[in-house]
Parts: sequence; structure tokens; C-alpha cells
Amino acid sequence: MNTIPSTVPHFAIAIDGPAASGKSTIARLLAERLGLIMVNSGAMYRAVTWKVLQENIDPHDNAAVLAMMDRIRIDCGHDGITSTIAIDGINPEEELRSEAINANVSAVSAIPEVRSKLICLQRGYLQHSSIVMEGRDIGSVVFPDTPYKIYVDADEEVRAARRTDAGEVDSVAKRDAADSGRKTAPLMVAEGATILDNSHHTIDSAVEAAIDILKQQGLEILD
Ligand code: DC
Repeated sequence: MNTIPSTVPHFAIAIDGPAASGKSTIARLLAERLGLIMVNSGAMYRAVTWKVLQENIDPHDNAAVLAMMDRIRIDCGHDGITSTIAIDGINPEEELRSEAINANVSAVSAIPEVRSKLICLQRGYLQHSSIVMEGRDIGSVVFPDTPYKIYVDADEEVRAARRTDAGEVDSVAKRDAADSGRKTAPLMVAEGATILDNSHHTIDSAVEAAIDILKQQGLEILD
């Protein structure tokens, strides 16, 4: 399947939604089908949280977190399929879904200055390629002008069960409350986004539903 962007050389498809809604899986498969790079913005917030915990910094101590942000080097790239991130030369990918990071990432990602630094890096991806980016504020803040926006939702019990089935300890309800209630760039349905209820879809039917939404939003997709 090929995608022909209409006017701009590179474009972004924004996939937002709460924890464990299935947005990463949909974003990854969409990117694969459309030949685009999938960017996992949550991994960036998780990687910064990993560094905060590594340095024994209190995630609620904004000043200490910001001082750390000023001295670390964050390299964002991709492997041709998905985004990659390294902090001071180390890729912490294997550790990003730990219980400790699940429990602290909402606090770190609520700090406005952390967000503005990571948003710059997120926007930077468009200089090199068209992307499918998933997160919480992609359609509302990172790429508000993109016409391609999907909000993936699913019932809370379904989402909690997905995390447990994946062997993860993650209080999705608590994290959603923090992510939706914060002052800066809260989780919300972005203006122009179409909601995809992923409570009862199979993976394949969810991707088909996402493709239908993108076609309705004007993305030219050749079968
Ligand atoms: O998508 P995820 O569960 O891996 O994201 C981890 C956390 O990162 C999430 O609880 C809130 C934060 N996040 C954010 O604030 N903004 C984004 N665009 C992506 C993630």
C-alpha cells in the first residue's frame, strides 16, 4: 500500500489516547502499511524518567529534573521502522516499561519545560520523513495543524486487562487521571480528531478502521 501526501513534502499522522488503548500497536501497523516511520513519543518521556530514576532525582523536584535536562544529551532517531532514543549515548529501551517508570512517568511528563524540550525533538522528525506519531498531545499540541488525527480509546477494564496480560504492573486509571488532569498539554480529544473505540476490535480490524478514518480525513491511500 502506498501513500501520496498531497501538498506538504512530509506529514504527520497523530494517534493519541489513554494508556493501553492499543494506540502503539495501531500506530506501528499503520506506519508499516503506509511505509512511514512510527514515532513513540511516550518512549521519550519514559527515557527521561529512566534517567531521573538512575540519578536518584525526585521526579517531583522540578528544579532538579530541569537541571538534569540541561546537562544530558538526548539523541532521537529511527531504525527505518520506529523511533529510537539514547540518553548520553545509552539506549534504555529494555527498561522503559518497568513498574518504577510506569509509576513516575506522569510526574516527569507534567513538567512544562520537559515537555517543551521533547516537543522540539518530536517536531524534528518531520524534517526527515513522514511519520505516524503516538502519544497524548500529538494532535492537540505537537502537530495541531495536521488533518490526520485519531483518538484511540477503550474501556478502562479492557485497558487494565491488556497491561496485566502483558505482565506489566501499571495503574492505568491513575496514570490517565494524572495525564488528563495536568495543566500543560493534558490528554484530550484534539480538535478535528476522530475517535476510534478499540474496546472490541481485533488488531486487524482496528487498523482497517484507522485506515478508513484517515481516508475520510483526506489522506490518499492506494490499495
Ligand atoms: O504512551 P505511554 O504509556 O508509553 O506514555 C507514558 C507516559 O508519558 C504517559 O503516562 C504520559 C506521558 N506522555 C505524555 O505526556 N505525552 C505524550 N505525547 C506521550 C506520553
